[in-house]
Amino acid sequence: MEPKNGRSPPARNGGRVARLKAAVLISGRGSNLEALAAACAAPGFPAEVALVISNRADAAGLKKARHAGIATQIIPHGGFKTREEFDAALSAALAAAEIDLVCLAGFMRLLGEDFVARWRDRLINIHPSLLPAFPGLHTHERALEQGVRIAGCTVHFVRSAMDDRPIIVQAAVPVLPGDDADTLAARVLAAEHRAYPLALKLIAEGRVRVVAERVEISGAGTPAGTLLNPPD
Ligand code: GRF
Repeated sequence: MEPKNGRSPPARNGGRVARLKAAVLISGRGSNLEALAAACAAPGFPAEVALVISNRADAAGLKKARHAGIATQIIPHGGFKTREEFDAALSAALAAAEIDLVCLAGFMRLLGEDFVARWRDRLINIHPSLLPAFPGLHTHERALEQGVRIAGCTVHFVRSAMDDRPIIVQAAVPVLPGDDADTLAARVLAAEHRAYPLALKLIAEGRVRVVAERVEISGAGTPAGTLLNPPD
């Protein structure tokens, strides 16, 4: 990530390396938020979840955030006349908390162009498919309908197009005989809980750069093997 605001990532601060301040935006369950917060709690992790914002007061993830001792805010989208006003309130809350990176995790509101431009390369999302396949809703149903044998998830920087690129991390899982959307979603979700913290870590370490709308990661290792489905 290019350090755009002079603070991220990770800035030297009186000889101490400051941790990247992430905010997580949720609308529901918050299991990815939980995975990010758990990763951040490990000693030496280069980022912290400093703020959780939900557009729904009943999001189960809010409880998880409070349990983890993370500051929460509820900004109900219904309280604003336009998308732009809602986005501006979000931006103001994020700026007030001096957030370096915004992580969308099951945040069910489309963000407008101004918001996306303001947070360009500091705004990431997780989507439960191997993009560019199956952007949008009902991913697992559509993957099963198409008979794909490998599914997965993608962490990507956000642009104005939904579930697009640049792609930072992907994780693949097999589709198994007898899978329905729920069993496949559960397998992909377990992969999400590894992929999202990894993306956050790489960004916080300052190893992620966007070049010509593709991501370069410095010092990335080489994954071993091939996921064959069915296996030979
Ligand atoms: C995840 O599957 C994520 O990929 C998608 O929304 C779901 C959110 O789940 N964008 P959770 O709220 O993190 O449990």
